[in-house]
Amino acid sequence: SPSSAASHVEALLASYPDFPQPGIVFRDLNPVFADALAFRAIVDDLADQHRGQFDAVAGIEARGFLLAAAVGYAAQASVLAVRKGGKLPGTVLTEEYDLEYGSARLELEVGQLPAGTRVLILDDVLATGGTIAATSRLIERAGYTVSGVGVVLELTDLHGRERLGTAPMHAIMSL
Ligand code: PRP
Ligand code: ADE
Repeated sequence: SPSSAASHVEALLASYPDFPQPGIVFRDLNPVFADALAFRAIVDDLADQHRGQFDAVAGIEARGFLLAAAVGYAAQASVLAVRKGGKLPGTVLTEEYDLEYGSARLELEVGQLPAGTRVLILDDVLATGGTIAATSRLIERAGYTVSGVGVVLELTDLHGRERLGTAPMHAIMSL
């Protein structure tokens, strides 16, 4: 259930001041992934919140991959890997974006799914929203539709939600 997913996250989330650089409080969700019951609860909650609204999930490298594989399996959906720059072969779309700590490039292979495929974007943390905004642009440029966004943790101070489009966004927990 949603409340059980949130309580697992609240109990297990770890925070590291000044990582990976001074001034950042890094939120580590690995203890949530490492707890079998907690992991099942968050995967089921992400799938349930968007049930019937997606044909594919897009996981963002690196921690979004863990969620996308599990939610894709649970919902019998296609899985797309949105990768950091330079890792994908063939014809790829590229988007640059800024992070809370630095900047980066994300890429998606073209032609994997039919035009109009409804895609649920998944990641562990929504911070400034740059990563998910760039991923949304990749999904749309590939000819798909962003039908939803799911994250485990939203850092509300960074107002990432304001940078996202109109698709339903679900965060299991907000800080
Ligand atoms: C983290 C996190 C999100 C992103 C959120 O990944 O997993 O993908 O930052 O930040 P934003 O909302 O400000 O864009 P990171 O870029 O550190 O990469 P990693 O998963 O490879 O560690
Ligand atoms: N991604 C961007 N900012 C982050 C933070 N503070 N903790 C974990 N992941 C992040």
